[in-house]
Amino acid sequence: MPSPAIAPLADTSSLAEAKASAARKARFWDRIAVKYAVAPIADMAGYEATLRRVQGLLSTDQDVLEIGCGTGTTALRPAPFTRRLVATDVSRRMIAIARRKLAAEPVPQLSFAVADADTPVAAPGEYHAVLAFNLLHLVTDLDRALALAAQSLRPGGLLISKTPCIAEMNPLIRYLALPVMRAIGKAPHVLCFDADELQSAIARQGLDIVSVERHGTRGRDFRVHRGPQAGLNLHHL
Ligand SMILES: C[S@@+](CC[C@H](N)C(=O)[O-])C[C@H]1O[C@@H](n2cnc3c(N)ncnc32)[C@H](O)[C@@H]1O
Repeated sequence: MPSPAIAPLADTSSLAEAKASAARKARFWDRIAVKYAVAPIADMAGYEATLRRVQGLLSTDQDVLEIGCGTGTTALRPAPFTRRLVATDVSRRMIAIARRKLAAEPVPQLSFAVADADTPVAAPGEYHAVLAFNLLHLVTDLDRALALAAQSLRPGGLLISKTPCIAEMNPLIRYLALPVMRAIGKAPHVLCFDADELQSAIARQGLDIVSVERHGTRGRDFRVHRGPQAGLNLHHL
């Protein structure tokens, strides 16, 4: 199935709108960036399993894009095993912290840039792989963000995503905790979908899902509770 065409941001007013929208989205993440940078990874074993899996899919002849990279902790790990990894995030503060980490631990293949995953981040067909970890539930328009990610892939490229499916969590999170936290500025805008809805959205962009995996290791991990449905989706275009 071909990817639907993506409306380009051609005129000045739509560019200005896109900038204002990115600034609004960045506000929450800018505010929490310092705290986020020092927060411990909740499930280190699951995180390491994901990194190993991702690293095995990348190679030194590949150009890779990460969207929603946060403070760059994850990008630093696979970057040496790629030809080029461009890691992007809508939050300037997240990117500033990521750049400081990179300065302290230089990896020539890696660079960071501020970019909104709801707007075109890359040229069509520029990348062999697009990484999206803990991001797809945060974009404004899932179909558009997926279309943009798909569009930036070369033929045969991989979209590798790991996504909390909030519709599969305890309903109190969706209907009580998140609205309350959002009202007091402690949670961002989130999309609530389940794994089936996410996979349908991915398939709508003409991506074949080649692997669906769960990498959480904690017994109480309720992010996914239906058999092998997934934390990590590996998509082949
Ligand atoms: C939960 S954090 C995940 C960070 C990192 N990928 C990780 O797994 O640790 C979500 C990140 O996505 C970024 N983000 C949210 N909406 C975004 C958007 N529309 N475009 C790009 N980045 C976005 C936030 O600034 C934040 O750094």
